[in-house]
Amino acid sequence: MTKPQATSRVLTATSGHEGPLLQVDDFRTHFETPTGIVKAVDGVSFTLKRGDTLGIVGESGSGKTVLARSVMGLLTGKNVIRSGSARYNGTELVGASESQLRDLWGTEMAMVFQDPMTSLNPVLKVGRQITEGLRYHLKLSKAEARAQARQLLDSVGIPDPNRRISQYPHELSGGMRQRVTIAIALACGPTLLFADEPTTALDVTVQAQILDLLQRQQIERFMAMVLVTHDLGVVAGRTDHIAVMYAGQIVEYAPTRELFANVLMPYTDALLHSIPKLSQPSHTRLQSIGGRPPDLINPPSGCRFAPRCPYVQPKCTSEMPPLQEAETPGHFYRCWFPVGTDAGREALAQNAALGIPAAVSLTQTLADKPGGTA
Ligand SMILES: Nc1ncnc2c1ncn2[C@@H]1O[C@H](COP(=O)(O)OP(=O)(O)OP(=O)(O)O)[C@@H](O)[C@H]1O
Ligand code: SF4
Ligand SMILES: [Mg+2]
Repeated sequence: MTKPQATSRVLTATSGHEGPLLQVDDFRTHFETPTGIVKAVDGVSFTLKRGDTLGIVGESGSGKTVLARSVMGLLTGKNVIRSGSARYNGTELVGASESQLRDLWGTEMAMVFQDPMTSLNPVLKVGRQITEGLRYHLKLSKAEARAQARQLLDSVGIPDPNRRISQYPHELSGGMRQRVTIAIALACGPTLLFADEPTTALDVTVQAQILDLLQRQQIERFMAMVLVTHDLGVVAGRTDHIAVMYAGQIVEYAPTRELFANVLMPYTDALLHSIPKLSQPSHTRLQSIGGRPPDLINPPSGCRFAPRCPYVQPKCTSEMPPLQEAETPGHFYRCWFPVGTDAGREALAQNAALGIPAAVSLTQTLADKPGGTA
């Protein structure tokens, strides 16, 4: 059983070899809309060291993309309100001018987007799209940039780079296109790479190859990488730490192994039950999480997961649980009745006895857990 202790430390990934490369502190990104202020990212803190990979996981709409893009300074609309702090190598990114950010994009921080078809320019040949950054940022000559582009294509596993360099994006397969976007992102040697759902537009066999490629490049280049996904299965063996996001907040954060061994947040538990396991028979039905994420204009004042949580108790709807550290150092969670604790087991049993509808979808799942009580 894990007994929580009260603490409000900034979440820190500790397996790197230098000081934090990225320090995000009470970071918020809200959008002014005609119907109210959408609190897409609402007080997120974490640090990332060079050489570390952080997985950011959560359902659709939880704020993963807004977080990644806003930290990089890519969200610039008039209706965007950013606050808090995001420091890259000591440089504050919140409030930085566009020219300051431009100096960092590509050479220091880069991003691989979900759909290569939208991030590549359809009317420019692949080679030109890679050499642009090399010429602008690294001031390489045309011939040097072209040679470097060929090398990059080779390093991301594109066969026959001499031919590919003169082709247009539509002449390549989806997997090849994503390899090209990775080559573009890596071209100027960034130390921090954001990969936002880099494989969801690809078919399953290609997905693993692209994830392997990213992992290999991250290790070889000793980059920090933030891997954004809605799928805990994707980050399981590829990240040092995982941050689980729900309704704009981090609700659980832990070293990857610790998170899988000792889930505390009912939301993470529900996500875990929504991914297939090799040990399951092939026709096993996966659990979906009942209900929908809350309205981000008027989120619940207590725990934001309360309307969907099988453990919910009256305290949950009146008091927002703070992010607190578990007995295992470095494991943080935001819950009054954590999974696997006496308090959690009691809450779950009470709800099951009362037949509370929210408990129904997950109760069976929890009964299947070793030592679980339903
Ligand atoms: N420009 C905008 N104006 C208003 N709301 C926005 C804007 N951009 C994003 N949002 C809202 O912010 C919330 C978070 O969106 P975000 O795209 O970060 O989710 P996500 O976790 O990346 O989801 P997905 O897994 O579907 O990519 C959503 O409710 C979305 O509707
Ligand atoms: S038990 Fe309460 S605090 Fe914990 S996730 Fe469920 S609703 Fe939130
Ligand atoms: Mg997204």
